[in-house]
Amino acid sequence: MKIGVPNEIKSSENRVAVTPAGVMEFIKRGHMVSIQSTAGEGSGFSDDDYKEAGAVIIPTIEETYASAEMILKVKEPIASEYDLIKPNHLIFTYFHFASNETLTNTMIDHGAVCLAYETVEAPDRSLPLLVPMSEVAGRMAIQQGAKYLEKPSKGRGILLGGVPGVPPGKVLILGGGIVGTQAAKMAAGLGAMVTILDVNLNRLRHLSDILPPNVVTMYSNEYTVRRLIGNHDLIIGAVLIPGAKAPHLITREMLGDMRPGTVLVDVAVDQGGCIETCRPTTHEDPTFVIDGIVHYCVANMPGAVPYTSTIALTNATLPYAIDLASKGWRQACTDNLGLRKGLNIVHGKVVYKGVADAFDLPYHPAESVLLT
Ligand SMILES: NC(=O)c1ccc[n+]([C@@H]2O[C@H](COP(=O)([O-])OP(=O)(O)OC[C@H]3O[C@@H](n4cnc5c(N)ncnc54)[C@H](O)[C@@H]3O)[C@@H](O)[C@H]2O)c1
Repeated sequence: MKIGVPNEIKSSENRVAVTPAGVMEFIKRGHMVSIQSTAGEGSGFSDDDYKEAGAVIIPTIEETYASAEMILKVKEPIASEYDLIKPNHLIFTYFHFASNETLTNTMIDHGAVCLAYETVEAPDRSLPLLVPMSEVAGRMAIQQGAKYLEKPSKGRGILLGGVPGVPPGKVLILGGGIVGTQAAKMAAGLGAMVTILDVNLNRLRHLSDILPPNVVTMYSNEYTVRRLIGNHDLIIGAVLIPGAKAPHLITREMLGDMRPGTVLVDVAVDQGGCIETCRPTTHEDPTFVIDGIVHYCVANMPGAVPYTSTIALTNATLPYAIDLASKGWRQACTDNLGLRKGLNIVHGKVVYKGVADAFDLPYHPAESVLLT
């Protein structure tokens, strides 16, 4: 199959959908890979690295799309890319259709096959192409939180690990899923005292087994949250209720119970945030202060560490992309039920129920397009 990898042109996006190692795997299986010139630069891969791995370097985005059957991307196509998408294209990328009606209608009109990273499922129903970015964001949350706890960043002036003779800082983590677990590991590794809350007792049992002794698990409820926020230095929001807006576990009024310079990192900001006063920020201007409490609410945290994020993402996407290239999307999605869940729009038909429901569009089960 002919695979095309365009430069990501959405603002502040430095990731790329394939590494030179991935190119080599495609080439070994007899596929052709075209990479748009400089597509890998933001992630530390030069055109020469790709050429050495067997790719062809293409000067423009127009030619990259025109020369390919499968387009591998990271972010959803933006307006300037819409007309490059043709009915013969298979597009494998993050789409997040349910939050973007224009993109949904445009992809219906353009007739391509749209396979969305975010809805591909593993056999245990987890989302294998979202996990790596949650891992990055969870680990980064502590790195960022530690920085903003410093006095020049308007924090309390606390060193998370403490020093001999001075106790370490205290970290409270709301939600013990992928983000929360990775954050707990990082904070514990720095020597902080960590408390992690969740409503899933089995999850808390598991965390209690695997995390070091400086991490305490507690059941999440309003009473406990109110008791803990006043004596913690860094609070991480990492709650997710699938398909719903995040619940506000910390309200505006609760900021008054915190010590000035407390830092809130609301990783769940992309789902509305679990801290009421959170609003999305950018890497260029990541924080704001309300009532002396520092808020960090960057909606695309992995974008700041593209070297790590690109490799983490492509480690997860490559096996699916190879399957799609080797078998074609119909056979690959027939053989793999989890990959089939990634099908969102196929030749103008919405085949993912959540997207059809979001915009009141006719829904066609994915099975119906596999048979045609
Ligand atoms: N800002 C970013 O750049 C970025 C990057 C990756 C992920 N995220 C977001 O981070 C959030 C967490 O992602 P995840 O992969 O860890 O999800 P996850 O499903 O693995 O974990 C969420 C956890 O929240 C728990 N939970 C639900 N209700 C709760 C409550 N009331 N109190 C405490 N815990 C509760 C669940 O039991 C679950 O363990 C999501 O909103 C995700 O979209 C943001």
